[in-house]
Amino acid sequence: MQLFRLGLLVASFIASAGAQSTFTPARPPAAPLAVKSPYLSTWLNIGSDGGDGGYLAGEWPVFWENQITGWAGMIRVDGQTYTWMGLPGSTTVNQTAFEYTSTKSIYTMNIQDKVEMNITFMSPITPTDYKRQSLVFSYLNVEVSSLDGKGHNVQVYADISAEWVSGDRDTIAQWDYGTTGNVAYHKVYRQVQLEFSEINQQGEWGNWYWATDDNDDMTYQSGRDIVVRGQFASNGTLSNTVDTDFRAINDDWPVFGFSSDLGTVDSSPVSTLFSLGLTQEEAVQFEGASAYGPVKSLWTSYFNSELDALSFFHNDFEDSATISGAFDSQVAKDSLAVGGDDYLTLTSLSARQAIGATQLAGTQDKMYLFLKEISSDGNVNTVDVIFPAYPFFLYSNPELLKLVMRPLYENQEAGKYPNSWAMHDMGSSYPNATGHNDGNDEKMPLEECGNMVIMTLAYALKASDGNYLDAHYNLLKKWTTYLVDDALYPANQISTDDFAGALANQTNLALKGMIGIQAMSVIADLTGHSDDAANYSSIAHDYISKWQSLGVAKDANPPHATLSYGNDSSHGLLYNLYADAQLGLGLVPDSVYQMQSNFYPTVANKYGVPLDTRHTYTKLDWQCFTAAIASSDTRATFFKDLSLWVNETPTNRPLTDLYDTISGNYPGITFVARPVVGGTFAPLLVTSY
Ligand SMILES: *[C@@H]1O[C@H](CO)[C@@H](O)[C@H](O)[C@H]1NC(C)=O
Ligand SMILES: *[C@@H]1O[C@H](CO)[C@@H](O)[C@H](O)[C@H]1NC(C)=O
Ligand SMILES: *[C@@H]1O[C@H](CO)[C@@H](O)[C@H](O)[C@H]1NC(C)=O
Ligand SMILES: *[C@@H]1O[C@H](CO)[C@@H](O)[C@H](O)[C@H]1NC(C)=O
Ligand SMILES: *[C@@H]1O[C@H](CO)[C@@H](O)[C@H](O)[C@H]1NC(C)=O
Ligand SMILES: *[C@@H]1O[C@H](CO)[C@@H](O)[C@H](O)[C@H]1NC(C)=O
Ligand SMILES: *[C@@H]1O[C@H](CO)[C@@H](O)[C@H](O)[C@H]1NC(C)=O
Repeated sequence: MQLFRLGLLVASFIASAGAQSTFTPARPPAAPLAVKSPYLSTWLNIGSDGGDGGYLAGEWPVFWENQITGWAGMIRVDGQTYTWMGLPGSTTVNQTAFEYTSTKSIYTMNIQDKVEMNITFMSPITPTDYKRQSLVFSYLNVEVSSLDGKGHNVQVYADISAEWVSGDRDTIAQWDYGTTGNVAYHKVYRQVQLEFSEINQQGEWGNWYWATDDNDDMTYQSGRDIVVRGQFASNGTLSNTVDTDFRAINDDWPVFGFSSDLGTVDSSPVSTLFSLGLTQEEAVQFEGASAYGPVKSLWTSYFNSELDALSFFHNDFEDSATISGAFDSQVAKDSLAVGGDDYLTLTSLSARQAIGATQLAGTQDKMYLFLKEISSDGNVNTVDVIFPAYPFFLYSNPELLKLVMRPLYENQEAGKYPNSWAMHDMGSSYPNATGHNDGNDEKMPLEECGNMVIMTLAYALKASDGNYLDAHYNLLKKWTTYLVDDALYPANQISTDDFAGALANQTNLALKGMIGIQAMSVIADLTGHSDDAANYSSIAHDYISKWQSLGVAKDANPPHATLSYGNDSSHGLLYNLYADAQLGLGLVPDSVYQMQSNFYPTVANKYGVPLDTRHTYTKLDWQCFTAAIASSDTRATFFKDLSLWVNETPTNRPLTDLYDTISGNYPGITFVARPVVGGTFAPLLVTSY
């Protein structure tokens, strides 16, 4: 812990040279502000000013797709108005510090050395507590205290615009103001609901709630942006009126404000809490065992109404902060033990992004976790997007891995997928989990068969759930037959890294297939199929011994696995080796681990090791898989390069997993906010030596 503090101090000191604010543990390309689901996903991008960004005041928060989701904050101190969030117009406060943890982004602001603000955005992560995790809500807590020993007269203001309710700014919004118990709320929604539709990736249905404590110090107002904000700036209180001229989002920009009069503030912090979130009765449409149809959001199975859900959430701040704080601490403790500050920089930045692509649905008796392949194509529960994220699920709660595989199993076991291999995804366009009755999904057969078998065993071992293996044995066996046919000499095909193109005899893909076969041998053994167990194990061992000639450039200096069989001048990240270690299979000899670990540092660029010899770009997630199974020295080098990249990258939107190892920039493909960054958790499950 001592070392951790020292490390943070050094990082902060370096970051502060030439800037007003410190950034701890790093200045990320974008800070998660409210990131909880595919539709509650608002960030503060570092901005087009690249290296000089990261300031909460002076830039609008944006949805992950980059359109503004208006969110403004102002404060009056002794009658002077300042902006602390967004761009509503007044003088900005001075940001002195930014810090992130797994669940929080915290800004510290200074106003004329008179008053200090701590502004905390908390998107709770409660992986084993489904009631809390089911709520698509996030907190904003604003704490103010006096810095100069004098009392100051303070009012705090915050609003949202109607931009949250639709991706089309010409859409007519409607709204309402109300109270429930001790909670005051603005409810804002699309006047014409378009269930299960998206525009510019935003969800076009459900109700948005923006809430605070209903007390004597609170005033509210809805109306035109300059009117409402102007009223606060000139007066410090709002008019307690509702604008009933329902209109387009961009027609005199309606905003929904709250002001809290804190009176005279001295050195003890006074806080104002806001809650922001989305209620959708129905989350997705799903082709499961029964006919295609809607599946309810899971929160509906815990709460009788939206207002009950809102009220619970808003009043739950202290408990929720305790649970999220425990998650933060656990991730910090475990990450520091594995890879110090450099590694914690990666895991703590990735947690909200990974879980923030998911949505809990169904009922308490039959839950599903739906996942959106954000930014790359919007597929639902893509198997090779779940796979890189599987370490996050397994680490935080293995049952989440079961829940995210459940739709895939249910659909395929109902005979709704005609191919002999595992389906690529549950549907091309989230939130419509249509399945692929025609078998025309993106074809990644070896990749997905291997992924399903590996993840199934990973879940069952971690959760000690042998029944799960029994239940899915037949389908697993069918997929393994495919692996046996294709893994030794993989046909010309794409892997999960489809942007890199198709290739025959991919060394790393073959390895996934072989590890999948050995994983199936373990599954067979655990379920009492001893003949299958012996058969698969003997095939996997036969294959892996051949693979060591086919896929290794033995005479290279140093020797290394190739990108494809026989091409000794090629190489790549052999990230599929990870599952052999994580599942404890012992299929692949230690010498292969050693060889790769010695090799990577010889081909590292400034910001990491290229994905393969075809390009200089790389993947954040696969480097973490690879680092997990490298020697401690090589692992530390990976983490150092990756954390340097997070600090220096010119990418300026929610963390990309694909970037160039030399420039640190997007390599012509802009991936943002993808859940695959859950792969940064890979070394928390296993490290080799
Ligand atoms: C911010 O800091 C600058 C430089 O010290 C100072 O001139 C300015 O008044 C400060 N602004 C606020 C709002 O404190
Ligand atoms: C802000 O947080 C720091 C560190 O936890 C604390 O010392 C300070 O009192 C807080 N200030 C306010 C205004 O809450
Ligand atoms: C999902 O399906 C509905 C029809 O049931 C359609 O209106 C909607 O546009 C689809 N959503 C997406 C994102 O394609
Ligand atoms: C502020 O607004 C309130 C309510 O509209 C009004 O009574 C009061 O006079 C205003 N004060 C100032 C200083 O404008
Ligand atoms: C072993 O598995 C392969 C692939 O599924 C199958 O073709 C073969 O018949 C099996 N052999 C035995 C002895 O079960
Ligand atoms: C794969 O490698 C094997 C062994 O080197 C070779 O015989 C075969 O032609 C290769 N397949 C393709 C499609 O290139
Ligand atoms: C071998 O790999 C290198 C690097 O990816 C590539 O440039 C070359 O074309 C490959 N050679 C063959 C014969 O495929």
